[in-house]
Amino acid sequence: MTPAEIVVVGSYNRDLVLSVARLPAPGETCLALGRTEAHGGKGSNQAVQAARCGASVAMLAAVGADAAGEAALAMWRDAGIEAGHVARLPGAATGTAVILVDAAGENSIVVDPGANADLRPAHVEAAAGLVRAARLVLAQLETPVAATRRAFEIARAAGVTTALNAAPAPEALDPQLLALTDILFVNRVEARALADDDRPERVAAALLPKVRRAVVLTLGAEGAVLLRPGEPPLARPARPAAVVDTTGAGDAFIGAFGARLAASGDYGSALDWGLAAGALACTALGATSSFHDAEAIARQV
Ligand code: RIB
Repeated sequence: MTPAEIVVVGSYNRDLVLSVARLPAPGETCLALGRTEAHGGKGSNQAVQAARCGASVAMLAAVGADAAGEAALAMWRDAGIEAGHVARLPGAATGTAVILVDAAGENSIVVDPGANADLRPAHVEAAAGLVRAARLVLAQLETPVAATRRAFEIARAAGVTTALNAAPAPEALDPQLLALTDILFVNRVEARALADDDRPERVAAALLPKVRRAVVLTLGAEGAVLLRPGEPPLARPARPAAVVDTTGAGDAFIGAFGARLAASGDYGSALDWGLAAGALACTALGATSSFHDAEAIARQV
């Protein structure tokens, strides 16, 4: 088996996407205007976008021994993503996400982790060879930190770059995991959760000394900023987009950024690819259903 350039340690969810006129207030019931089911999960979404950008990608995840788990495996196979180390757990249901999307394209998401919560360090150990042979190991916070920490330990010992997306927004980041992280991705909501501070640039700057190479702050319609020690911030505006649904836009950004960084080693180019992929991902409903390939992204860069 050819080693994958990017190993994603992360989640898969079956997404139930409900379109609503506006997001309901607490205690309010509203009727959906439409529904779709789709592949989701931050880990899987990022893997799919990286593969569409031309990277070779392997997935380390846990799904249930159910129809949704079967569908995930079939989708990864069709996407060219290596899934030989995905755990199929008989006692657990595949993760599920309920996503509400309003008329302006904004969303609210609730995840029932299911099998994602049972991804263990032992599953990562079994794929240690895959991790050691990668250029980039990419993780999020929808699967247990212990498994991600083990993957990052193996990666660090082998000189493989590690990247962490601090999503869903945590109240705190595991200090050991942070110390093993080369590149940290945070958005505005995550920055606020981490520091109870409404100035995301300040939060990102405070996080920079805690990681090894870079903090990437994504700001939606306001673009993104890349911070590296001893260098001036690299700020880029967002690409224009006719927004239909922002679900998965952050995942598209990270998947494309990772693929471009693994291929070129150039942070500026990775930032451009991330922004272009994120903007394109807003132009249709759903997560991976709205992701574009390398050719389309390159045209926007
Ligand atoms: O980032 C979007 C994703 O968040 C959705 O696909 C959903 O499954 C949740 O993981």
